[in-house]
Amino acid sequence: MFVDIHHHLIYGIDDGAQSFAGTEKMIRQAVENQVHAIITTPHITPGHAPFPMEDYLKHLQETREYLDRENIDLTLYTGSEALYTPSTPYQLSEGKVPTLAGTRYVLIEFSPDDTYKYLTDAAGAVESLGYVPVFAHVERYECLKKADQVRRFKEDYGALIQVNAATVLRKHSFFHQRFINHLFEDELVDFISTDCHDLPGRDNHMAEAFDQLTVLYGIDMAHALTHGNAEMLLSEAVKQ
Ligand SMILES: [Fe+2]
Repeated sequence: MFVDIHHHLIYGIDDGAQSFAGTEKMIRQAVENQVHAIITTPHITPGHAPFPMEDYLKHLQETREYLDRENIDLTLYTGSEALYTPSTPYQLSEGKVPTLAGTRYVLIEFSPDDTYKYLTDAAGAVESLGYVPVFAHVERYECLKKADQVRRFKEDYGALIQVNAATVLRKHSFFHQRFINHLFEDELVDFISTDCHDLPGRDNHMAEAFDQLTVLYGIDMAHALTHGNAEMLLSEAVKQ
């Protein structure tokens, strides 16, 4: 049974599900993939666009009621995927950026072409406010070429690292594949999550990724990355 900490399940908030039918479809996929807990993480772009908090909480509640009614064993938590902008630290400190399950862990993403210095400064700013930066889909950032660059985020700022399930299954170009392999071999990855959207090609691949991780890196790492580490994070969850 898996825990997904990065998922665009809640409809009408971002480029994830666009209607309740889309949410329902993503729930079916999650259940088929043996996911039993999801931290819902709509995009938030501090300083650029207001986050529709009221709609988010209303649609989340509607989804929870549906799960109860249908007797589906899937627990939902609040969260967001915050694009790192100059406004992010202030809005975070004001409580305007939903953290992962209400904990001190914050899922942050960057533009693919942001510089290494920008990523490093972001990790430092988030950490200095008492939060733990969780780097969303770390495999996407062009400035990251070596596993040691990622190690520095962890050693210097206590950052945690998320990789998408689809990334584990896909073949990459030679150098990118080597970078991804090193991340796993050096035990720098903390979470495998789906980053599921209600879009073609952004499906749930959790069960398949678990199988592949087991083959490549062993059952212990597969368990840790698909639910063990996430369960530790959820042990600090604040009910919302
Ligand atoms: Fe995402």
